[in-house]
Amino acid sequence: MKRIERCNDLITWVSECKAAGKTIGFVPTMGALHDGHLTLVNQSIRENDFTVCSVFVNPTQFNDPKDLDTYPRTLAKDSFLLENAGVHVLFCPEVADMYPSGLQTTVIYELDGLDMIMEGEHRPGHFQGVVNIVKRLLDLVSPNRLYMGQKDFQQFTIIGHMIKKWNIPVDLVICPTIREPNGLAMSSRNQRLSEEMKIKAGLIYRVLKEVKKQFAQHISVSEMEKFAHKAFSAEGFIVEYFSIVDGITLTQVEKISQTQYAVACTALWIGGVRLIDNEIICGKI
Ligand code: PAF
Repeated sequence: MKRIERCNDLITWVSECKAAGKTIGFVPTMGALHDGHLTLVNQSIRENDFTVCSVFVNPTQFNDPKDLDTYPRTLAKDSFLLENAGVHVLFCPEVADMYPSGLQTTVIYELDGLDMIMEGEHRPGHFQGVVNIVKRLLDLVSPNRLYMGQKDFQQFTIIGHMIKKWNIPVDLVICPTIREPNGLAMSSRNQRLSEEMKIKAGLIYRVLKEVKKQFAQHISVSEMEKFAHKAFSAEGFIVEYFSIVDGITLTQVEKISQTQYAVACTALWIGGVRLIDNEIICGKI
């Protein structure tokens, strides 16, 4: 595995690769890798000649400076995992290389309201930061395929919207959420949970699956939301949102008959850690 830290070196590697007619798969990450990331990496390795994985904790997508400071950074371990998986290039730039004119130079992208709800409402500016860094990375890597996880459903939807809207020549590939045996979605933030909290957090997926069942039984959206809030609150979770949304527009579904593709999305706090998860409750991506 080649480890590249400078943007210029990456540009040189990519142009040699393209000149040789090779395809590139790209997996952007912020490190602290787990099996969810490795699933994306493995799929990319199967589907492309070369796989590039970036590890970059992007400061512009953190609305809370404490969250940025405490974000797990495990580059040596990440590098070991990626090399073992068969990744061809690990790209791990410095902040100054990704934002040469400073963090204030981010572009404001019009995301047609998709960035204002759910995560966007609770983490102002988050998706502008995500879109800025993903666009910069796509410009550098020029991949044929971009791999993202369903766990960050809103992020995936926004990146898909950006790719379509700006005609970016890349195929977006979504990979299913990888879960712990108790259903907890794998996330770098899980490292901050105590063992007791990890067990407790299995409730999130149980509630999502129950809501999916209720959806099939035509229980009203407001009843399902009430059920979820009650189930979480009873176990001491603090719910930021629990929303059933249309999978494309991300607008709240008021009535089951309103959509062919609905997704239940939630963000909640447990033991001082913020977790998100989602489940497609009808239709498919
Ligand atoms: O999902 C993430 O880890 C990040 O938001 C991403 C896509 C790597 C951009 O920093």
